[in-house]
Amino acid sequence: MTLNVLFAGKEERWPHYEGPLNEAISALGIDAYLATDIAPELVDYIVYAPNSDLKDFTPYTRAKAVLNLWAGVDAIVGNKTLNIPLTRMVDTGLTQGMVEWVCGHTIRHHLGMDQHIINPSNQWAPSPPPLAWDRSVVVFGMGELGSACASVLAKFGFNVTGWSRSEKSIDRVTSLHGPDGLKAALAKAEIAILLLPDTPATNNTFDTNALALMPKGAVIINPGRGPLIDDDALLASLDAGHIGHATLDTFRVEPLPESHPYWTHPKVTVTPHVAAETRPKYSSLTIAENIQRGEAGEPFLHLVNRSVGY
Ligand code: NDP
Ligand code: OXD
Repeated sequence: MTLNVLFAGKEERWPHYEGPLNEAISALGIDAYLATDIAPELVDYIVYAPNSDLKDFTPYTRAKAVLNLWAGVDAIVGNKTLNIPLTRMVDTGLTQGMVEWVCGHTIRHHLGMDQHIINPSNQWAPSPPPLAWDRSVVVFGMGELGSACASVLAKFGFNVTGWSRSEKSIDRVTSLHGPDGLKAALAKAEIAILLLPDTPATNNTFDTNALALMPKGAVIINPGRGPLIDDDALLASLDAGHIGHATLDTFRVEPLPESHPYWTHPKVTVTPHVAAETRPKYSSLTIAENIQRGEAGEPFLHLVNRSVGY
């Protein structure tokens, strides 16, 4: 029987996905018809991007799973019309992209590169940075992406700590966890990498009190999600000279509104949600594998736990 697989993403993304998805699915010997427009009652699987127009899953009566193309599921996890399994994206390309972006921005701040790149007065003012092993980096969120970043940063030599809900055991990375471990993690975070999902429990993790616990001059790098940070508290802390810099890739409202103070703040770097891109070539393999599992009656990979929201 031919499976019907609906691509529910932005229309302009379909030409990029059509080839890789068809190839990955047929490579597993699955006979499937993929399209952006299939009668809802005939759809077997939904390949989904949360910025698509599909919000009501009620008519998809025969669908077996929604296979999210993004790692983050905050825009879909609370959808009350969704009563079938929801998986999220984990793929090698997404992970590698995040590792590259996080390491690049961490090293920029660790080495104080701006001092030499943006040096309006052409001053000869040597101030060597500490070595990586004397720099404490804390990764908040030690899932697929956070743990990969933490591992590479530790191999580079940084003194790395990870904070998550549950305890982790990762070579050369100190593990702190749960609400009890948060204060200690904040206190160590000379460079904080935010890779937590956006859930009710993580909202405003970086509020006035949390920011005050971080070392003076600390740098925040947020490729996670905008709501992890209380924006007013961050701006106040930057203005007061406590937090040294914030490099932000994700925001409460995206695109970041033109009038937002982050755009012009001298201690803020804005990047337009580019930390890690889902790439068709790699993500199609994850989608195909999950369809194969669904058809074989095996558990889906990367299933979202909807009770905790990630
Ligand atoms: P995972 O689900 O694999 O990891 C989430 C991590 O956060 C886990 O370690 C989890 O702990 C931890 N966590 C969740 N809730 C809490 C809490 N209340 N307290 C402490 N720790 C908590 O996600 P990924 O690593 O794949 O992705 C992380 C996020 O990165 C995504 O949700 C998305 O928002 C963002 N992202 C951003 C991109 C970009 O381009 N900017 C691209 C891709 C993702 P535990 O391990 O104990 O469960
Ligand atoms: C994601 C993202 O969640 O791009 O995958 O932010």
